[in-house]
Amino acid sequence: MSDPRREPWLIDEAEFYEIEDSRAQKEFLLRYAVLAPSGHNTQPWSFRITDEGIEVAADYTRRLPIADAGDRELMISIGAAITNLRVAAAHFGFESTVLYEDDGALVALRETCKPDEQLCQLFSAITKRHTNRTEFDRRGIDPETLDRLCGVVDESDLTRFIAPTDRARAAELVERADHVLLADEKWRNELAEWVRPNESDETDGMNGDAFGIPGPLAAFAPFLVRNFDLGEARGKSDRLLAEHAAGLIVITGDDDPTALIRAGETLERLLLVVTSLGVQYAFLNQPVQVPALRRELWSLIRTPKPPQLLLRVGYAPPVRRAMPRRTVAAVTFSASLHRDHVPQQIVQPRNASRDRRCCRTDVRSEGAHFVIPTLRTRRASPRTSSTPRTTYRSWRNPRRSLRGTRRTRRGMSTSRA
Ligand SMILES: Cc1cc2nc3c(=O)[nH]c(=O)nc-3n(C[C@H](O)[C@H](O)[C@H](O)COP(=O)(O)O)c2cc1C
Repeated sequence: MSDPRREPWLIDEAEFYEIEDSRAQKEFLLRYAVLAPSGHNTQPWSFRITDEGIEVAADYTRRLPIADAGDRELMISIGAAITNLRVAAAHFGFESTVLYEDDGALVALRETCKPDEQLCQLFSAITKRHTNRTEFDRRGIDPETLDRLCGVVDESDLTRFIAPTDRARAAELVERADHVLLADEKWRNELAEWVRPNESDETDGMNGDAFGIPGPLAAFAPFLVRNFDLGEARGKSDRLLAEHAAGLIVITGDDDPTALIRAGETLERLLLVVTSLGVQYAFLNQPVQVPALRRELWSLIRTPKPPQLLLRVGYAPPVRRAMPRRTVAAVTFSASLHRDHVPQQIVQPRNASRDRRCCRTDVRSEGAHFVIPTLRTRRASPRTSSTPRTTYRSWRNPRRSLRGTRRTRRGMSTSRA
């Protein structure tokens, strides 16, 4: 029997080399993009395949108006999907350039014999990365791994370890934020909308087992979340998780859409590195969602830019069941993602995931009449991001030789095989 939670993560990369059609190749790359993390697993992205590459745009029908009123996490999630797309593209022999737009980007793709090695190295981590909310071992990260992790954190001016001396203070902010957020009925209602029973066939949202809730109880999870303020208990346990983590990492960035997309790209790069090092991670963003506590966190970390995300890292048994994903077909549109084409009256269904599905279906069947998003097609003076050359040691994927086969068939150099 098919398992909607497992299937998207089981990709046979060899299939790519059988594909000759450029559009189908890009669709294949999107199978990796949709595995990116997103707040509440809303997967708030839409894609359009073009001759130049792939447009990535925000899907505002998937906003979290209470938990993420400013669409910060939404834009960060878009950035995470962009990183997955670029990593997969590099692995399959494409050079990628990101052209940022107001609330999305065009990821321009070009075949190359010298794809970015630093991106290539992260490929195998895409299907292994999972947010792990369990308690981590209390042991520290081993020195060699810590060295590599510190190297990656230091490489970006958006990431910072929280100093061990500030750990207790950060943990206290997490606990206070839990009290504030979970006391808010609207916040709980919104969260409950995205919590699913473990065997749900929904392709978005978070199953109860992501929070350690076993099968039969998970069916009641949305009810519990909606009706009970568990801030006290949650606060205490999150505080301990923060205090005992091997490390706490903050991702910072300005609050404008492009900066947030970049923060998301940085986040996913970090998560893929963490995963490839055999380290587990989870989010403790709560203080960032409460403006007063976000300011306190900022003054604690003393970074030039405000905090966007707070992560704990450490060792733990890996996640056993992945979270579900929507299919590439469900998030790919052939009509322009131009904001001007979006009817102003577009409704943002909020209270039922059923409505959300209907909306998407209607949108697709009406062809050009309605896409949610937003990407402007303006291409003038784009801001570009290219990846710095590698400082990682390479560990090659055995499948890489397949690429050589394909390139030979096409009469191209095999120097990267
Ligand atoms: C921007 C962003 C914010 C997130 N915030 C939280 C959070 O506050 N708490 C949490 O437990 N998980 C958080 N997550 C993790 C998502 O819930 C997770 O990515 C999603 O459920 C999909 O699961 P996966 O990461 O295992 O694929 C966040 C993820 C992103 C990208």
